[in-house]
Amino acid sequence: MRVLVVGNGGREHAIIQSLKKSKKIKEIFAIAGNGGIAYDATTVDMNVKDVEKVAEWAEKNKIDFACVAPDDPLVLGAVDLLEEKGIPCFGPKKDAAIIEGSKIFSKNLMKKYGIPTANYETFSDMDSAIKYLETQDMPIVIKADGLALGKGVIIAENLEDAKSAVKSMMEDKVFGASGANVVIEEFLTGPEVSVLSFTDGKTLVPIISSMDHKRALDNDKGLNTGGMGTVAPNPYYTDAVAKECMEKIFLPTMDAMNKEGRTFKGCLYFGLMLTPKGPKVIEYNCRFGDPETQVVLPLLKTDLFEIMQAVAEERLSEINVEFKKKSACCVIMASKGYPEKYDKGFEIVYKTSRKNVFVAGAKLDNGKLLTNGGRVLGVTAIAGNLKNAIKKAYKKVGKISFENAYYRKDIGQRALKAHGDK
Ligand code: AMP
Ligand code: GLY
Repeated sequence: MRVLVVGNGGREHAIIQSLKKSKKIKEIFAIAGNGGIAYDATTVDMNVKDVEKVAEWAEKNKIDFACVAPDDPLVLGAVDLLEEKGIPCFGPKKDAAIIEGSKIFSKNLMKKYGIPTANYETFSDMDSAIKYLETQDMPIVIKADGLALGKGVIIAENLEDAKSAVKSMMEDKVFGASGANVVIEEFLTGPEVSVLSFTDGKTLVPIISSMDHKRALDNDKGLNTGGMGTVAPNPYYTDAVAKECMEKIFLPTMDAMNKEGRTFKGCLYFGLMLTPKGPKVIEYNCRFGDPETQVVLPLLKTDLFEIMQAVAEERLSEINVEFKKKSACCVIMASKGYPEKYDKGFEIVYKTSRKNVFVAGAKLDNGKLLTNGGRVLGVTAIAGNLKNAIKKAYKKVGKISFENAYYRKDIGQRALKAHGDK
């Protein structure tokens, strides 16, 4: 089998390292991949958002199966185009990817089907949005409707900040067309849990839970980032919570998408908050999370490719999806200055194996791997318990170097406290 993975970050590298274990696969291609992915797959230089070109390339190069990983090509309909060319895919079609592509769609879906989420109102007109804010308690959450590179959510502590957030989205258009419509919602509190799942529209199998660390600095300070590290499983996600989520959130979401004629096939991501009133959905993603994938896939025991094929063929119920009874920790090594300004082009030197070191932003230059992005590497380790997984991940980080490397020193500490330091 010739398999194509669309995407170019650490998440895609984790998917590729996992797929490489499958005996069914002969060759893996990545569009566009990156310098680190090039160690594990044949990379093809192309913009992932040029979905027509991606589909044409896949047809011409006799791809047997494709996995489309990032939100943009999914929302742009990459899976529809690939399937039109007869290439089976893992990933939702455009009409289902809207669950991430439009927050207004997903909030209305939850309201219609009684899926627990924060109370909200949607606005297409700035004056009405501002009038509404004046009647609300603070803090309050303002979200751009469309995709905004994970930056379209603003938590405003007071009315003045809330108003300026609405203005920046609707008048100054800082997120372009994505902010033409906004959701204003109630501020929730409680631990956050990421639960990714495999679903073919008939069966839904939750993947081991995880915890992201979104802020740039230790102790959850600093700016929001694409994610500075993850651990799995998430200690707050007990069996009782898992059962409640399955009954009240996961299966109802799968059914709701079916009822809307938008059957979701692929990885459906649930961003949850465990509030005092029970688990609520903070966001849906139509894809594997980044950097959650970098901790959950190394814990997967079952052949990932077999799962992906079963999802595409709508026979996921036949597969016994199993996870190792271990813990994983991923520490993101970033370029100093990320998520704002940073320099690139520094050589990355490994004194450890490349296994479970997932490259997010690097390029190959004359055989040298050079930093080429804000988030550079996701360094994952697995152990029998979380404490040792954290220790091992940091030990591995210590064996990889590049100039201006920055990483958080406290990945997993919150989870460890919840565990009673084990
Ligand atoms: P998102 O981009 O949707 O993942 O949101 C980014 C982050 O904003 C989430 O991970 C939460 O920490 C926070 N957030 C989003 N919605 C809410 C809410 N209604 N209440 C409190 N925090 C929220
Ligand atoms: N880690 C959050 C996301 O992938 O959107």
